[in-house]
Amino acid sequence: MTLLEAVELSRTFGGVHAVEGLSFSLPKGGIHSIIGPNGAGKTTLFNLITGLLRPSRGRILFKGEDVTGLAPERLARLGISRTFQNLQVFFNMTVLENILVGRHLHLHRNPISALLRLPGFRRAEVEARAQAERLLEEVGLGGLGSRPADSLPYGALKRLEIARALAADPELLLLDEPAAGCNERETREIAELLTRLAGRGITIVLVEHDMRLVMGISDHILVLDHGRKLAEGSAEEVRRDPRVVEAYLGRRGQDAVAAP
Ligand SMILES: Nc1ncnc2c1ncn2[C@@H]1O[C@H](COP(=O)(O)OP(=O)(O)O)[C@@H](O)[C@H]1O
Ligand SMILES: [Mg+2]
Repeated sequence: MTLLEAVELSRTFGGVHAVEGLSFSLPKGGIHSIIGPNGAGKTTLFNLITGLLRPSRGRILFKGEDVTGLAPERLARLGISRTFQNLQVFFNMTVLENILVGRHLHLHRNPISALLRLPGFRRAEVEARAQAERLLEEVGLGGLGSRPADSLPYGALKRLEIARALAADPELLLLDEPAAGCNERETREIAELLTRLAGRGITIVLVEHDMRLVMGISDHILVLDHGRKLAEGSAEEVRRDPRVVEAYLGRRGQDAVAAP
């Protein structure tokens, strides 16, 4: 089954074609990576898929339904969740509260029931907290819920962001450079986490510069260059594609993607 499809998708900023005539289709399940040099259009593509930007042209289909131009909250309810290239952690909140923010979307709060603190509302709160604790456990931050977010080291904050994205219970999870700034051990932990999440049926779209990570865990890779699709296929196919080596990876890159 096709989960996500882009049809002739384009987005311009003034004269810049950030994404241009891009079509691709991703099946449900697995880890799909999007790679390409800085400015290739990866973040813009994420912003289009998650409704933060509207395309200049083209369509986006999620589970066969045209979702082009829907607001981010609508898309989140449909099952599309993301993390950001730059940390979007609320530093004045606890770790647990940061996750509850992500859950908010799904509580479908009735303001009257919240005001009166009706049992249904309280039950939802209790469930949300229990779910948040489970998610913290899942990303390796178990027991840290009451800590202030600003007391966590960088690598843990990256995982907190993933936990928050998971709180909306996504079918499709988009991760914009989750290992950026992480050391080798933290990167390995992210790789394990993503593999586990894919294992429990969440389809992952990963933007990441760490080629060892990308090549190690991706089922499918899409290569962008100047907003266009340059190549796609398995890690092996992409690694051997002369256009990729030439246009993106270059000589230095060739070493970077050499088989481990
Ligand atoms: N909000 C914006 N306003 C103007 N130009 C933008 C904006 N967002 C991205 N761009 C431009 O679009 C191109 C693609 O950027 P981006 O999607 O951030 O690439 P990547 O994430 O692959 O590094 C770049 O030339 C960038 O300068
Ligand atoms: Mg980017």
